[in-house]
Amino acid sequence: MSTAPSPPGPARAPRRASGRLVVLASGGGSTLAALLAAHDDPAFGARVVGVVTDRAGAGALDHARAAGVPTAVVAPADFPDRAAWDEGLAQAVAVFTPDLVVSAGFMRILGAGFLARFGGRTVNSHPALLPAFPGAHAVRDALHHGVRVTGCTLHVVDAGVDTGPVVAQVAVPVLDDDDEATLHERIKVAEREQLVATVGRIVREGMHVDGRRVRLGG
Ligand code: GRF
Repeated sequence: MSTAPSPPGPARAPRRASGRLVVLASGGGSTLAALLAAHDDPAFGARVVGVVTDRAGAGALDHARAAGVPTAVVAPADFPDRAAWDEGLAQAVAVFTPDLVVSAGFMRILGAGFLARFGGRTVNSHPALLPAFPGAHAVRDALHHGVRVTGCTLHVVDAGVDTGPVVAQVAVPVLDDDDEATLHERIKVAEREQLVATVGRIVREGMHVDGRRVRLGG
């Protein structure tokens, strides 16, 4: 699996008092909401400056609007093919001049065009301990496999499906009476906490990606 060319060195350290985050979302946006709530913490050092979804009905748009954050909808149905949609997505994100792109419940694969522009500074939050259970049904797959511990992973996005270098992980226990919904909600609690803490560090301290090794800070 080839990985997209990522620019050498750390994610572009913000030249501003506050790092610029663009969030990609497809769903309800509780993960986005956690990042928006972090705006109130001056120590966070970053702000969500744009939210881009692939669906006009995504609940994440409501969170963004309530917080006064600009939004854009880039729906595949509005483009002739996948490559055109990928380019449209990249252009919509570029408008916000992000330091870091955060995929939080975004259910589309980012293509080569997008990664050529934002590779190395795009991270994704996944509700499993990668490389276990990649893909769109991670929580269900972990439950059906019978694991006793699962969790969530923040990783750098590469050209594969949930295959990029791991930035951070948190383990979450699976309880005997869990179903997919209860397990996912427990994972999302840990996931939101991990995302806010780690995204803040990436923007404040920088991120060095060397092969599969990721180091935060100088
Ligand atoms: C998160 O668990 C994310 O990892 C997964 O979908 C969920 C998004 O939840 N891909 P929300 O839309 O942010 O509430």
